[in-house]
Amino acid sequence: MPPLRTKRHNKETPYQFVAGWNEFPFFQSAFFANLRALVVIVMNEATTAIRMEHTPQSRLPQVDFNNLKFGQIFSDHMLVAEFAHGQWEDVSIVPYGNLSLSPATSALHYGQAIFEGLKAYKFADGTVSVFRPDKNHERFNKSARRLEMPEVPEEIFIGGLKALLDLDRNWVPQAIGSSLYVRPFMFATEAALGVHPSDSYKFIIVTGPVGAYYNKPLRLKVETHFTRAAEGGVGFSKNAGNYALSLHPTRLAQEEGFDQLMWTDANEHKYVEEAGTANLMFRVGDTIITPSSSTILHGITRRTIIEIARHWGFQAEERKVSVKELIDGIENGSVTEAFAAGTAATLTPISEIGYEGQIYTLPDPAKREFSNKVLQYLNDLRYGRIADEFGWNVIVD
Ligand code: PLP
Ligand code: COI
Repeated sequence: MPPLRTKRHNKETPYQFVAGWNEFPFFQSAFFANLRALVVIVMNEATTAIRMEHTPQSRLPQVDFNNLKFGQIFSDHMLVAEFAHGQWEDVSIVPYGNLSLSPATSALHYGQAIFEGLKAYKFADGTVSVFRPDKNHERFNKSARRLEMPEVPEEIFIGGLKALLDLDRNWVPQAIGSSLYVRPFMFATEAALGVHPSDSYKFIIVTGPVGAYYNKPLRLKVETHFTRAAEGGVGFSKNAGNYALSLHPTRLAQEEGFDQLMWTDANEHKYVEEAGTANLMFRVGDTIITPSSSTILHGITRRTIIEIARHWGFQAEERKVSVKELIDGIENGSVTEAFAAGTAATLTPISEIGYEGQIYTLPDPAKREFSNKVLQYLNDLRYGRIADEFGWNVIVD
């Protein structure tokens, strides 16, 4: 088992009580090294164990599984882990409920907060499976490093998630199009107003049954005034602030009748980046194209679709896509498909794009060969109806 202790970036460990203590011969001996290794193993074993507290009464009977909205219902339990004194400790699964926080909690002031989104599915035989959680774990720790937060070890992120899903397996819906949305998140908990990385954090996983995030094709507005992310910023990370900054420009676009924004680059507003809650993908001939930039979130859905497209013999290109190329392609008919790809969004067709006061209409979503085929394939794979040839389903047993 990998050690539970994680690195605190650019910080001295708090255990340096007496300067020079390790210069005494005893502390340099092999005996001391072995003793210390043993203590670390024992501590890790102790702290890895997940404390379980079951809910006295399940809320499951109150859930209408035929009318699931996104992100409004939460399962009976949640996983909570605390980071303090330079290590993860107190990992527990407890009944879902409110938190008690100091008003000085630094995440509330300075936004040291990151999250992930992934989904668990139920096969016809009742098997519960979670889709590519290793990729979310990897991206979570990438976000953590950028925001000077501790990494979450695999045994808490993946191991804890599997224990939580095992306990709340009855909450995973079975109907095609519905799933159990999993939201891991971490935030700074130090109660202090100095601007510095917190010395303590909470990592929490909540889950809840969901239906579609978008239930109709999207009308997107190309944003040429506001900026989501610039080179050197935090656009690639899944941090809370990226979503806070999107709310005002998105509301303005919604007042014009659009569903979402199509963000463009910060320098010239010439290149397409991503939508507010999903990546963008286009089809031109037999090529699937997705914008590439260090400023966008590198989505797991888009990566999955690229891998499937290549497997099926399509070309897949991750490259800069100018707004002009896209608009010209819609006008001359070479862009035959456009869609948003994301965990919550799954694969949602884009029906119209608004740019500089003009509306550009894409072909009828029902006739889009690649989008419909890949969505069908993803559903078949995730609900266990076909062989998992890529090894992406992680079974919760
Ligand atoms: N871009 C943004 C801004 C998102 O919020 C999401 C959703 O998670 C995505 C892209 C797609 O990422 P993924 O496919 O990993 O869910
Ligand atoms: C997801 O797709 O998991 C997201 O995080 C998008 C969104 C609901 C913010």
